[in-house]
Amino acid sequence: MLEGIPDGRFDALCIFEDMVCSREQLAVHWDEPVSEDTCVRGINAANKRIEGYPLQYILGQWEFYGITLAVGEGVLIPRADTEVLVDAAIEAAGKLYRGIPLRIADLCSGSGCIAIALAHHLKEKAQIFALEYSADAMPYLMKNITDSGENVQIIRGDVSNGHLLENFISPDDDSRPGLDMIVSNPPYLTDEEMASLQREVAYEPQIALYGGTDGLKFYRVIACLWREALKEGGYLLFEIGDAQEAQVRSIMEDSGFEDIRGYKDGAGCIRCLAGRKA
Ligand SMILES: C[S@@+](CC[C@H](N)C(=O)[O-])C[C@H]1O[C@@H](n2cnc3c(N)ncnc32)[C@H](O)[C@@H]1O
Repeated sequence: MLEGIPDGRFDALCIFEDMVCSREQLAVHWDEPVSEDTCVRGINAANKRIEGYPLQYILGQWEFYGITLAVGEGVLIPRADTEVLVDAAIEAAGKLYRGIPLRIADLCSGSGCIAIALAHHLKEKAQIFALEYSADAMPYLMKNITDSGENVQIIRGDVSNGHLLENFISPDDDSRPGLDMIVSNPPYLTDEEMASLQREVAYEPQIALYGGTDGLKFYRVIACLWREALKEGGYLLFEIGDAQEAQVRSIMEDSGFEDIRGYKDGAGCIRCLAGRKA
């Protein structure tokens, strides 16, 4: 169907449905001609896909946690594995909620997939903030929040800048009492992993992938610096890469988190770690 592409049949169908009509409509309109312009666009899209360009960027949208999000060059494509983090955050929110909206920050928000999914599911039980640094990701984050109709507040900035904590904590301002929960899927690939990226992943922004030489830079910054913004007993939840469990667990422990629990993805790998501020 699409030569050299695993699941090429699925990808070809997605491109067809995006440009021509759905499978259901095809059953009715199968004998109608397709315009020359549509044919050319379809062939161009198929050729791009054969060259390794991600299907999600061709379609310009992708589904995450049942929500359709705009994606394109400049923003990380939301992964199904990240849904494990959303499930764990919803579980943690259930333990924390006492009738007052929980203040939750999604650090390194990208497309906003985690923040929007949480806002969608927690509704009035939570006040959600999405922090992102990349100027290229920002238009997607803004569009996705607007299109979702959810109430998510964007904060633009570098997660390693301590001044950003002032958005959430202030000893003199009752409206900034700290955060109940921090969730993050930070960049976590190592030097070695960056040097051998899968063809499709190489089209995604480097800033969304690279986590410093050992891949752990953002875990250290968030666990150590952002701990200050969490209320006592508040939760910190991370998505982690393959084989990072022991290292991230020890970063969390060293930063004063306890009751650390791992959550597995569909392949049985620990994909999320959740801990409570002691
Ligand atoms: C792995 S992506 C995750 C995106 C999204 N949360 C998701 O799960 O699909 C990491 C995100 O961190 C952002 N980022 C990288 N460096 C950052 C920094 N110093 N401060 C804030 N965000 C940063 C990237 O632009 C990217 O959107």
